[in-house]
Amino acid sequence: MSRIFESKIYHFMSNIKSAEVLVVDDEQVHRYMLCSMLEEWGWSCREADDGVTAVEAVRQQPFDAVLMDVRMTNMDGMEALREIHAVNPAIPVIIMTAYSSVDSAVEAIKQGAHDYLTKPLDFDRLRETLEIAMGHRRQPETSGLQGEPFGENGRIIGSSPAMHVLWEMIIQVAPTEATVLINGESGTGKELVSSALHHKSLRADGPFIKVNCAALSENLLESELFGHEKGAFTGADRRRDGRFVQAQGGTLFLDEIGETSPAMQAKLLRVLQEYELQRVGGQETLTVDARIVTATNRDLENEVRAGRFREDLFYRLNVVVLDVPPLRERDGDIPLLADFFLHRFAGRNNRTVQGITPECMDVLNRYAWPGNVRELENAIERGVILMRGEYLDVAGLPIAIQRWAGMHPQQETEQPSTLKEAEQLLIVKTLAETGGNRSEAARRLQITRKTLLNKLKKYGLDQRE
Ligand SMILES: Nc1ncnc2c1ncn2[C@@H]1O[C@H](COP(=O)(O)OP(=O)(O)OP(=O)(O)O)[C@@H](O)[C@H]1O
Ligand SMILES: [Mg+2]
Repeated sequence: MSRIFESKIYHFMSNIKSAEVLVVDDEQVHRYMLCSMLEEWGWSCREADDGVTAVEAVRQQPFDAVLMDVRMTNMDGMEALREIHAVNPAIPVIIMTAYSSVDSAVEAIKQGAHDYLTKPLDFDRLRETLEIAMGHRRQPETSGLQGEPFGENGRIIGSSPAMHVLWEMIIQVAPTEATVLINGESGTGKELVSSALHHKSLRADGPFIKVNCAALSENLLESELFGHEKGAFTGADRRRDGRFVQAQGGTLFLDEIGETSPAMQAKLLRVLQEYELQRVGGQETLTVDARIVTATNRDLENEVRAGRFREDLFYRLNVVVLDVPPLRERDGDIPLLADFFLHRFAGRNNRTVQGITPECMDVLNRYAWPGNVRELENAIERGVILMRGEYLDVAGLPIAIQRWAGMHPQQETEQPSTLKEAEQLLIVKTLAETGGNRSEAARRLQITRKTLLNKLKKYGLDQRE
């Protein structure tokens, strides 16, 4: 029955390295067995033999997950769970129960446990549950190549398969001279990718010049890009080099290339064909030695078909195309990005932060992020500035997202497929809603208490701790 509580919104992540798990069990043999297995899977492990020691360990160190037996002498698992979360509400705690007792499982989930496992443990499920739980807390520093810094403040955070593909492409294409077209929705990180391309290129020591083609009128853009001679137009009181020349030996990033006018497209085409240009109002021919990277959130092929973008220019620009995936397609990246932004903005605003509560992370994971990474970044920045305690909670998210979360409470995604499953599901849900009160559950289900007890027995849900 545990799958009923399984939260499908957490993305499965494999191969989470260097994470540390606290294993709490009063039986030494169990601890030994669990730790050996966890270490084999690549995690490091610390042991605690009772709840008191576990709480003390959590106070000293931010573990990535706690795996805890529910029945222990000294302080039982339930109490330890409460105390652990009082110290650090962001730690996912997985409870192990000796029996498939619905009462203790319901209670554990209600108390904020991330999930529960029944003994004897199913090891595949143990591993999967831990991996899912740690998806919440994995630090960007441990996420492999993507977290690697470049440029002044650049870091591409992410570990989803989609981002791996992108990163591989960047590494492969960066050291070449190929013209690159970066495609992607607004806020996905196109500018960041252009910066990575420059900083990972052989031109990294040269200038990295950015021009937003949508921000300037056609005439201004022309003189911005090509430069102008003194007296070329009113106000041109001295000769000025354009961005192409300023980018000599480096990279020129033409952002929002899809917004350029037909006349500007023709001029750009000439430069890209001949790698030569003249300043506005000038005769002298200047050689261009800049690597050209462009970006757009428009579908340029579509623009070509619609006659709004020159086909010949399009083919010059899209020698290599990098597609930056929208955030909703990056399985598992949201917790990493959220954590990264949390610490970045905490640092900038002199705030002490410990983490993001599981409820808040749950909402962040489920929200669709139409504004992609920029929207997530803004949400976290706002949250950090308005934060009261040391954990970012749902209340710290923008009102629109809170309202969305209220309208879209977490769904149980797994639908029962048989009448028997539907009945079990309804019983467990009702028990959860009534806090395990069987008389009240029976009343709500409109059956007698005796019938309910019989059904619990029939489904093996009646054992108590
Ligand atoms: N993978 C990432 N890791 C860390 N920060 C990111 C990532 N992707 C985007 N960002 C951050 O999100 C913000 C938006 O990214 P960027 O400006 O590169 O997006 P864009 O695709 O160029 O957006 P637009 O189409 O609106 O111009 C930036 O502050 C950027 O640093
Ligand atoms: Mg941009």
